[in-house]
Amino acid sequence: MIDTKLIDTAWCELYKSVIEYKGQPVGTVAARDPGIDILNYDHCFVRDFAVSALAFLMRGDTEIVRNFLTIMVELQGKVKYMNCFMVGKGLMPASFRVVKTDGIAQLEADFGEKSIARVSPVDSGLWWLIVLRAYVRATGDTTLIKQPEFQQAIKLTLELFLEPHFDMRPTLLVTDGAYMIDRRMGVYGYPFDIQSLLFAALSAARELLIEDGYYYRSITERLTHLSVHLQNYYWLDFDRLNTIYRYNVEGYGSQVINAFNIQPSTIKPALIDWLPAKGGYFAGNVGPGRMDFRYFAQGNLLAIVSSLATQDQSHKIMALIEQRWNDLIGQMPVKLCFPALEGNDWEIVTGADPKNSAWSYHNGGNWPFLLWLFAAAAQKSGHPTLAMRALESAAERLADECWPEYFDGHYGQLVGKEARRFQSWSVAGFLAAYQLLEQPSQLNLIEFGFQLN
Ligand code: GLC
Repeated sequence: MIDTKLIDTAWCELYKSVIEYKGQPVGTVAARDPGIDILNYDHCFVRDFAVSALAFLMRGDTEIVRNFLTIMVELQGKVKYMNCFMVGKGLMPASFRVVKTDGIAQLEADFGEKSIARVSPVDSGLWWLIVLRAYVRATGDTTLIKQPEFQQAIKLTLELFLEPHFDMRPTLLVTDGAYMIDRRMGVYGYPFDIQSLLFAALSAARELLIEDGYYYRSITERLTHLSVHLQNYYWLDFDRLNTIYRYNVEGYGSQVINAFNIQPSTIKPALIDWLPAKGGYFAGNVGPGRMDFRYFAQGNLLAIVSSLATQDQSHKIMALIEQRWNDLIGQMPVKLCFPALEGNDWEIVTGADPKNSAWSYHNGGNWPFLLWLFAAAAQKSGHPTLAMRALESAAERLADECWPEYFDGHYGQLVGKEARRFQSWSVAGFLAAYQLLEQPSQLNLIEFGFQLN
């Protein structure tokens, strides 16, 4: 049982993080830690606010979400320029803040051009679609999405994501650090976290379009190809691992089984010992000559919620988590990815990034904001007790330590080396998880049944 006083404290903290613009609530700052250099943590990050938005919607506080959704439409790039320094058509910012110039409040957006390492916000438009769909589900109000500006914003987002680029496959090619993991971590190319997010966002967009014309058909087609591709090439359980272990290489042509020319020798013996007979998960990345065997929580949990994973796969992912609880949930839920990169791998893949040293931050650190997604996945796959166990084990420590951004250590024992306190999505992730478990019907805001027609 979680003390309701703790829940009240958490709400109090979340409301303290609210940003206002023209007298209206429009978002939440990333963190309110007075002890650490603020950098851009006074911004409202789109992916962070997505978690706050879910917590607010479940509570019935819909105004802030509506205002945020509207601001995103205003900030989205609208024009196609042949100029790399202009905001791309359809792109939404990573974050924004409210600044005062000559006493007048203005929105200042960051599309990655000012961010550390200049990373691109590939995920923003995808989260916007998911939040918009959750807003409609929570309020039953379709007047917002019927506005021409909203329909146009949905279509611009779709054009950006569905447009063919250099490769002929349904997955999305992305640059380094283009989403929640916004640093070099080997998550360039075709990281599963983004493919899973794309799948959920396209599913959301299908429900948001008011006509089922060209855009609707394009989404439907892409969803089908995307799921077949991810099921075929990313899914890993013991049988699949054995197939890959016996792969032939250097095949040419459309019928080749080892399409990406994966070298079986890249399977580490530790994985063979670690993968339980009854578990499974989607691998971190698949691309030319490369299979990243790491487990990433966000993509896998979202795959359950969005029904990208079949029922059988969902059970296998949950079985893996249950059997490898110390590794994947640990003392502070939820482990972001497993295992951590160490030694030479760490040096080459992260660029010797000390913030991402082994079992810290993105490199095997534990992130409480993921609690909402774990609760949703557990609820959807019929394992709510697992989520309750995680939430109960986290609650007091999270509040006592003032809602840190992340935890370090193989089992998430330590407050992260550079973790900010009063991190909004740590609070919101906890509150959304709590509400999902208290009122299972809230799952309706974010779950998808995959019925193509
Ligand atoms: C860090 C995280 C990123 C998050 C941001 C604000 O940069 O890596 O995912 O959006 O902080 O909390």
